[in-house]
Amino acid sequence: MSTASATPILQGRNLVKTFGRVVGLDGANIELYPGEVLAVVGDNGAGKSTLIKCFSGAHSPDQGEMLVNGESVNFRSTQDARASGIETVFQTLAVAPALDISENLYLGREIRKSGPLGTIFRTLDKKRMRREAADHLKALGIGTVQNISQPVETLSGGQRQAVAVARAATFGSKVIILDEPTAALGVNESARVLQLIKDLRDRGLPVILISHNMPQVFEVADRIHVQRLGKRAAVVTPKSHDMPEVVAIMTGALTVPEKDQALGPVRKAA
Ligand SMILES: Nc1ncnc2c1ncn2[C@@H]1O[C@H](COP(=O)(O)OP(=O)(O)O)[C@@H](O)[C@H]1O
Ligand SMILES: [Mg+2]
Repeated sequence: MSTASATPILQGRNLVKTFGRVVGLDGANIELYPGEVLAVVGDNGAGKSTLIKCFSGAHSPDQGEMLVNGESVNFRSTQDARASGIETVFQTLAVAPALDISENLYLGREIRKSGPLGTIFRTLDKKRMRREAADHLKALGIGTVQNISQPVETLSGGQRQAVAVARAATFGSKVIILDEPTAALGVNESARVLQLIKDLRDRGLPVILISHNMPQVFEVADRIHVQRLGKRAAVVTPKSHDMPEVVAIMTGALTVPEKDQALGPVRKAA
């Protein structure tokens, strides 16, 4: 069962975030434990995206505390979060359509040529980026992307999503956060992204998955964080609660006493 002593990889305590008079987060708590997939579910406007944007450095909370491996952090930018090993695939995909796959993979982290060409003239090592991008996609089991120098705008929704997830998986050393990664995808493409999430977890990388899709959540999640009205209503597991019950928690029809929640880790870290 749960070992309450495990230190969360990510933790948020009483996070508050307002946008003028709109309350995005109203004292939200969250913990992500080593080696787990934590699903975050909730109605539209419940504060799911706002919550994870705090951890990806896109938002700075007005109040509350954020910790990474038990250490207090204060992210001022997405660069700060990335430097801490947290990679996010945002709900609105941040890919550059005119750039090719390898350029997208290395956007903001381009590899320069060695020697004076790279250090003085800032020449990019495109060959190396292409080769490594192809290796990364292959390692992640994304075999459908044929041509690594194909502009991303020519890819299908699923392939674009795969590139965004691949980028996160390539550079996220501690945590991968995916905000509705399968919302725009077909059945096969969704299955591929779900498999990728399982692979990441099996490699020891914890994942936060925001999703509306209950069957997908129940397929991959170790724990399910239910967000409601800007805070966490409960954390349960696919074993402790079924889909109608999770939906009932989302709507407020069901409340779960703390003793029946999965507040601690349920999975042995890899
Ligand atoms: N940049 C923003 N400006 C104003 N209001 C926002 C902004 N981002 C989110 N909100 C508001 O905060 C609340 C939570 O939004 P969000 O976190 O996107 O919810 P979810 O992802 O659960 O659908 C909503 O009422 C939303 O309209
Ligand atoms: Mg959202």
